Amino acid sequence: MKIAFCGKGGVGKSTIAALLCRALRERGLSVLAIDADPSPHLGRLLGFREEEKLVPLAEMRELLAERAQKSGPYYTLNPRIEDLPEKFMLVRDGLRLMVLGAIREAGGGCACPEQTVLRRLLSHLVLQAQEAVVVDMEAGVEHFGRATVVPMDFILVVVQPYRGSLETAKQILRLATELKLSNVLIVGNTMRTPEDEALVREGLGTTPVISFPEDPEVAAAERAGRSLLEIEGPAMEAARRLTQFLLSQGDL
Ligand SMILES: Nc1ncnc2c1ncn2[C@@H]1O[C@H](COP(=O)(O)OP(=O)(O)O)[C@@H](O)[C@H]1O
Ligand SMILES: [Mg+2]
Repeated sequence: MKIAFCGKGGVGKSTIAALLCRALRERGLSVLAIDADPSPHLGRLLGFREEEKLVPLAEMRELLAERAQKSGPYYTLNPRIEDLPEKFMLVRDGLRLMVLGAIREAGGGCACPEQTVLRRLLSHLVLQAQEAVVVDMEAGVEHFGRATVVPMDFILVVVQPYRGSLETAKQILRLATELKLSNVLIVGNTMRTPEDEALVREGLGTTPVISFPEDPEVAAAERAGRSLLEIEGPAMEAARRLTQFLLSQGDL
């Protein structure tokens, strides 16, 4: 089962992705977690203390140089996950973490071929993975191209009950329609009242498949700089419900 989280910055993608990784592990699945946000946090949330030692895939210059057969403006880069050196992944108890990172370029923004290669590499790794995959995507919609989303079984758009988050979700849903994707689902976060649900329904024309409540346990872990591995509470329960829902959708 391959799942990507997207949505506006700050809506809770990484939080929910980390809790879902935990819930999938509880169900006995091996999990590959990929942090595709240029400022990565997923490793910290998953309790990988050595996260800062991990080399982002974007920096695998040696491997790029070694494996990229440059032909015209196009690269092909098809490393097998198992061939990736250990420095590109952290492993613990059936959970693997990879960090995509960002292509750094003088002057900021980058629509360079390396970025395209990186996206292709992501889709390639997701496609060949044998375990459940959870990708924590970059905020916004810019990354929302065919290569990134096609290998996914589910694209979960996280929304909070405010208009900015719904606007981003709406753009993502529009792009998904253009790409003829039928596996895009809304996940609510910090949903409190029936009015919140109504706002989402009015804004998007659909309701969340699962809604995560505001959870003081999540906030307390965040304040204390603790991972989300130990917390028990309404958010973790929602993650288990989300897992159950996803597992019940056909034989994936
Ligand atoms: N359900 C929740 N209850 C309490 N705090 C939350 C919840 N979801 C997210 N947060 C907090 O909101 C902030 C943003 O969440 P994060 O997962 O980093 O968002 P994103 O990855 O979308 O940018 C974090 O401080 C996180 O602890
Ligand atoms: Mg995040």
